[in-house]
Amino acid sequence: MMSVTDMRQGPAADHERTARELASRVSPATVIRRDEPLARHTTLRVGGPADVYVEPANEDDLAGMVRFCRERAIKMLVLGRGSNLLVRDGGFRGVVVCLAQPPFSRIEIVGETLRCGAGARVKNVALEAKRHGLSGVEFLEGIPGTVGGALRMNAGAMGGETFDAVESLRIMDEGGNTREMAPREMAVTYRSCATLKDHIALGAVFKLTTAPRDVIERRMKAYGEKRWASQPAAPSAGCIFKNPKTIPAGRLVDELGLKGACVGGASVSAEHGNFIVNDGSATAQDVLKLIGLLKAKAKAGRGIDLETEVEIVGED
Ligand code: EPU
Repeated sequence: MMSVTDMRQGPAADHERTARELASRVSPATVIRRDEPLARHTTLRVGGPADVYVEPANEDDLAGMVRFCRERAIKMLVLGRGSNLLVRDGGFRGVVVCLAQPPFSRIEIVGETLRCGAGARVKNVALEAKRHGLSGVEFLEGIPGTVGGALRMNAGAMGGETFDAVESLRIMDEGGNTREMAPREMAVTYRSCATLKDHIALGAVFKLTTAPRDVIERRMKAYGEKRWASQPAAPSAGCIFKNPKTIPAGRLVDELGLKGACVGGASVSAEHGNFIVNDGSATAQDVLKLIGLLKAKAKAGRGIDLETEVEIVGED
């Protein structure tokens, strides 16, 4: 029979040791948890646990954590609201960091700019701009993510993309050093900012213009109505695929007659062909199999290679 000491060996003991050592490098206000279920932190509501989950109390603690991970070659994943993320069922071997504490979520209006932390909700950025009669980020109204996530993915909606409105960003590199960057210095493409694969966005300055509040309000209302009419309310990760150049992915899936196709608890939304929804019982494996099926049908039926927009991370 195993002794208590024996039982504490293995992965669980490793996570405990990592968490303990990390705790000695940061202030007590930093939240550190072991084996945190990531399904709780993603809008699709699937995915296994993170070995270690951290909510840094401030930038110094974040820098301490980044250096700790680099020294030990521990993989790190920065989590926003988890609205564009598919975590595999085996979870994430490494440290997941979430900028959920208040110092990372400030939103401040300075003249015709809006300065905010990476942990701020994108929706609140749009609402705060509207409150001050500032236009330029109305399209962010319905994106269910954080500023950091929106920057990493160059998230977009209603014809606008996040980087269209960004004047500058603060970022942290793998050594824990911070600096300001202009969008032109960064690798930004449709639904991606490659620079933020190995840098952490800390915040952004959005450039806006003065406009009558009722005009901004009407525009945001129209966007909201379009979204509610065409996108599902059930748990999802937003659009699963990037739009191919020749046809929107949702229309393609629709034309192929694949709305309603399902694997386990995951199905293609009846409202929009580029959304996979979770009926509450889906696993990451169900979603991945359904993605595979849609890709195969698109290739066989139209010769189109669908490319996922959602970030897929973790172990099977
Ligand atoms: N369509 C269909 N059937 C469907 C879905 C769409 O025929 O099931 C048609 C629509 O009628 C429309 C076209 O396909 O003519 C495009 O659809 P939609 O206007 O809904 O936009 P989309 O290209 O599918 C993009 C973004 C969304 C964003 C919307 C609204 C991508 C991959 N997606 O969707 O972003 O909310 O525009 O502006 O670029 C996301 O990135 O997660 C996301 C949801």
